[in-house]
Amino acid sequence: GAGSLLTTHLQSGPESSARSASPSEPAFPDAPSTLHVMKSTMQLRGLMTIIRDRSTSRADFVFYADRVIRLLIEEGLNFLPFREHTVITPTDSSYEGLAFTGRVCGVSIMRAGEAMEKALRECCRSIRVGKILIQRDESTAQPKLFYAKLPPDIADRHVLLLDPMLATGGSAIKAVEVLIEQGVPEDRIIFINLVAAPEGVLAFSKRFPHTHIITAEVDDSLSTSKHIMPGLGDFGCRYFGTD
Ligand code: URA
Repeated sequence: GAGSLLTTHLQSGPESSARSASPSEPAFPDAPSTLHVMKSTMQLRGLMTIIRDRSTSRADFVFYADRVIRLLIEEGLNFLPFREHTVITPTDSSYEGLAFTGRVCGVSIMRAGEAMEKALRECCRSIRVGKILIQRDESTAQPKLFYAKLPPDIADRHVLLLDPMLATGGSAIKAVEVLIEQGVPEDRIIFINLVAAPEGVLAFSKRFPHTHIITAEVDDSLSTSKHIMPGLGDFGCRYFGTD
């Protein structure tokens, strides 16, 4: 049979509250319970050290950023709904496992978020991936939607929203507004991010208290020029090799 529903969407996170190197501690004071920081293993710290190093070549930046992004996507998939599913193994015994249920799609925030599409496709074969382009409107200094191309049935899907850098939160907030306008419930969006500033996490979670944020590391602060500190510089420029 289909088995009973074990959990509903987004209650299935590996931990219910924000995590950091020390599992019971929040990543920073007032961190929201929707923030999930990946476990700070030696492996992850080694990868993050390479991509943060300004002397890392572009080829190495792409290679090691891809490895962290793959881990992040795998972590994000833990937030999808699943049901019990028993299979028979080649030894004629049964294994009481689970199967993912709900439908899913990706949405990348251009341009840096596009760097996360490859790992998403590697994990979810033939997944539909939409795109959103948001840029600062020079006259108002506010993030403005320039382009959106989304799967037509997005309202019926869980959405993995991709953007590697969460600085002020302006673009991510605008992107989630666009998804909600398209009928996606806030709690069916999973925001997958590489490096976050506390300011961005707080702004985002204040606006969307039911959207989970999965990140590799939370940094100290934002500079006056809105760069994440210590950060890794401009992700899009380093990944795509532009200025
Ligand atoms: N976007 C980036 O690529 N880097 C930052 O530090 C902030 C936003």
